[in-house]
Amino acid sequence: MNLYEAIFTRKTVKKFRADEIPAEELEKIHDHFRELPELVGNIRTEVRILKDDGKVFRNIPLQGVRAPYYLIFYSEEKQRHQMNIGYMMEHMVLYLCTLGYGTRFLDSDMLRKEKRQLGSEKKAVGVVGFGVSRDSYLRKHGDARRLALEELCVFKEIPRQWVRQLLEAARLAPSVGNAQPWRFVVYDNRIHIFTKKHQVERFARYTKEEQNFGGMLAHILIAAEEFWIDVDLIRLENISQKSFPNNQYVISAVIRN
Ligand SMILES: Cc1cc2nc3c(=O)[nH]c(=O)nc-3n(C[C@H](O)[C@H](O)[C@H](O)COP(=O)(O)O)c2cc1C
Repeated sequence: MNLYEAIFTRKTVKKFRADEIPAEELEKIHDHFRELPELVGNIRTEVRILKDDGKVFRNIPLQGVRAPYYLIFYSEEKQRHQMNIGYMMEHMVLYLCTLGYGTRFLDSDMLRKEKRQLGSEKKAVGVVGFGVSRDSYLRKHGDARRLALEELCVFKEIPRQWVRQLLEAARLAPSVGNAQPWRFVVYDNRIHIFTKKHQVERFARYTKEEQNFGGMLAHILIAAEEFWIDVDLIRLENISQKSFPNNQYVISAVIRN
């Protein structure tokens, strides 16, 4: 299984076995993070892998939210750093899926105080629990609870070959509470990406919203790589200055000729 295939089969895992993961495997996972592409340049990030010892999260009832291991994602706080880390986190959950592990996103606000900061400049902005899944960590493509493409897209032109595949990969992206806040306006060779307005009001404040978009953009770029398509992610000024009643413009995915 590769990353692209994992997009279609990965599901959130909530029940894990307590199996140990060998140290060299954990090191490989850690090294993988260092080799990841970034979405936004010049933002320092780091990941730490912690084994569950009951002291990772604050002491509130955590029944069901534990996992044998945690990836704690740290980042400098800069413009779009949440989108960048969302992109890297999604790469990591898909990579762990290709290695045969189950994964689940957890709330970084629940981390204990001493785990929330790394050095003077990096803050914990995301947590992924992982380990050997008790049941299956995969599902059938059609079993994902997601909105249909027709509900997410406005087709302004008939999209060229592969654009539908990029949209299908985007559609399957996970999001906080499965909110799927993205909407797509589709032309022959480009997809303009919007977020629903009621989410937008919280866009700056409710930081996970940006992480969702980072993960969804990871799906688009992983699909593009699978089909050997060059895609540029750009913010088009003529769209960003327009005002839309229900949606706010985020970015465009433009396929290079
Ligand atoms: C950035 C991000 C943060 C998330 N945070 C949490 C969380 O704090 N707690 C939780 O139970 N699920 C969290 N989720 C998981 C989503 O609820 C889940 O992915 C969604 O319901 C879809 O389910 P699926 O992954 O099985 O397709 C998060 C997902 C994303 C993408």
